[in-house]
Amino acid sequence: MVKVAVLGYGTIGRGVVTVLQGNADTIEKKAGKRVEVKKILDLRDFPGDPNADKVVHDYEEIRTDGEIQIVVECMGGLEPAYTFVKTALQQGRSVATSNKELVAKYGAELIEIAKENTCNFLFEASVGGAIPIIRPLLSCLTADKIEEIAGILNGTTNYMLSKMEREGADFHEVLKEAQAKGYAELHPEADIEGWDACRKIAILTSLAYEKQVDFEDIPTEGITNITAEDIMYAKKMERTIKLIGQSWISEGKVYAMVSPMLIEMDHPLAPVKGVFNAIFVHGNMVDDVMFYGQGAGSLPTASAVAADVVDCVKHIGKTVKINWSKEKLALGDIGGFERKFFVRLPGDTPEDKIRDLFGEVEMITVPGLDEKAFVTKAIKENDFDKAAAAVNVINRIRLH
Ligand code: HSE
Repeated sequence: MVKVAVLGYGTIGRGVVTVLQGNADTIEKKAGKRVEVKKILDLRDFPGDPNADKVVHDYEEIRTDGEIQIVVECMGGLEPAYTFVKTALQQGRSVATSNKELVAKYGAELIEIAKENTCNFLFEASVGGAIPIIRPLLSCLTADKIEEIAGILNGTTNYMLSKMEREGADFHEVLKEAQAKGYAELHPEADIEGWDACRKIAILTSLAYEKQVDFEDIPTEGITNITAEDIMYAKKMERTIKLIGQSWISEGKVYAMVSPMLIEMDHPLAPVKGVFNAIFVHGNMVDDVMFYGQGAGSLPTASAVAADVVDCVKHIGKTVKINWSKEKLALGDIGGFERKFFVRLPGDTPEDKIRDLFGEVEMITVPGLDEKAFVTKAIKENDFDKAAAAVNVINRIRLH
């Protein structure tokens, strides 16, 4: 029997308890030992909940309980999660977490502490919810040089963009729906401003290149500027708008960014709708592969956490090797990168002026919208910014 403590009894923590208890027999067969949730840490009480008697309010009760061998962290945020996880690892207890903030910031350090204490720090659920991506990156794709990762990495924003596109739904209404379904972060700015996707691409890029990618270094834009009009233009262009977290390698430098992008309809990421995420990886040998599944939500995310618990049980007394050093990876400057941009300007902007500033463009018209909208040729980000500063841009979106 292996006893587990779950930190945080919110959307994911409850899901993990449900999976560990609901699939206890299957998990026992796979792990080779029975797994029992012994304690649950939360500030709240849960009267009437079948696990109410397991709830404790003080981490000391878990720290000092010598029977607990695995800690599952689903609290989110950096503190006190970091202190609790670090303490558990220093005690030689393995940790499974879904906390992308924690992993992005302290992943390299916590992996090192786990190694020093012959236990494991596993975090499959921190990127892409239910989607197996961390393990495939570390094992199935380990013989490849990863040249590109591009993903829909946030379920909330993909759910919102899909509903806005399909039903013309209002941004704020659809955000409320995503919150009610348990997809959104406690502070949904993290979703809609792209910060959550930023942490996830930082984790994947760190694992792909085995060094610390600081999420603060990744240029990040969210979806708060995307309007019904942008979606009308996207349809006219036979494209769809997705929030993309991407990193790629060019001339030996690694680049990363998060931003909404106009994707062609025949790209494999285009049909990914609702709360689903997908992560497209290009390796120098494997070519293109894509991983797909539910990117947020209680049970799908919990299923990935519970799988890490099984792995922790299987590896008691051993450390699973994860190469992610604390050495910082300096990212390339995206300012020199060329892309096409879709741009919307007020209807009275002279087309001559547009061509003087942006070069050859392809005009896009949508009946009923009195605007000058166009797609540029591939242009460096820095040059685009200079040109855009000379006009009154309503919005601009990068083309993928
Ligand atoms: N808020 C996150 C999302 C949860 O919507 O993807 C899963 O990390």
